[in-house]
Amino acid sequence: MKLILLGPPGAGKGTQAKRLEERYGLKQISTGDMLRAEVKSGSEIGQQARAIMERGELVPDAIIIAMLGARVAQPDVAQGFILDGFPRTVPQAEALDLMLREKSMPLDHVIELQVDDAALVERISGRFTCARCGEGYHDRFKQPAKPGVCDVCGSTEFTRRADDKAETVAARLEAYHRQTAPLLPYYAAKGILRVVDGMAEMGEVGKQIAAILGPPPGKG
Ligand code: AP5
Repeated sequence: MKLILLGPPGAGKGTQAKRLEERYGLKQISTGDMLRAEVKSGSEIGQQARAIMERGELVPDAIIIAMLGARVAQPDVAQGFILDGFPRTVPQAEALDLMLREKSMPLDHVIELQVDDAALVERISGRFTCARCGEGYHDRFKQPAKPGVCDVCGSTEFTRRADDKAETVAARLEAYHRQTAPLLPYYAAKGILRVVDGMAEMGEVGKQIAAILGPPPGKG
């Protein structure tokens, strides 16, 4: 299965992608995570992307399309993947269409997570992540069971993203509405766009997505 989770920053794309990885055995491909790894490694792509990301703007299409093209060619995603944060512009969507057509791998679903802007700001500003295993948390919506200790790996080190500051969040939302929202009519015209209520509680959002995807292979 090949699907796209589409939605503004903080809509819950990463949260739901992780759940779908476990339930459906699909690989999450997050261009944001890939870019953050490039920045951390100090690579040429990372050096180009760092300041752009810190301003809350989109990294140029040419860089992203080349990076994504290399990732979808890897054998671990041959059976399917969840795109999280890609495509974000119409040229990226067109490039993806071409890549998948060449591999005879049509997209199955594009799922839009709809969330109000005010809720997005609260979600992003409260977000933090385990520095060791990457498990995601939130000051209000998802705290570790034991305060200060990661539920998954037991680490006591947590990080917050450099682009989660209030002023950067405003720029990211603006980029979403101006450059990414035009993908909604693009995929609606192809008849593969489905909408879920991303304002619902995380488990409920997961159920809405599962209702669209159907049972995992072997559990039907
Ligand atoms: P990226 O990393 O893709 O960030 P984003 O799209 O801004 O999305 P987020 O990761 O912030 O949010 P999310 O939807 O995954 O929400 P999450 O599940 O974490 O991109 C970062 C930057 O990289 C971009 O600004 C750009 O510069 C660059 N970039 C990346 N891809 C690019 C591309 N294709 N082209 C160009 N540039 C690109 O949830 C957020 C919080 O809310 C969490 O704390 C979570 O616990 C909580 N939460 C989740 N669901 C719920 C719920 N239902 N109720 C309550 N809380 C919830």
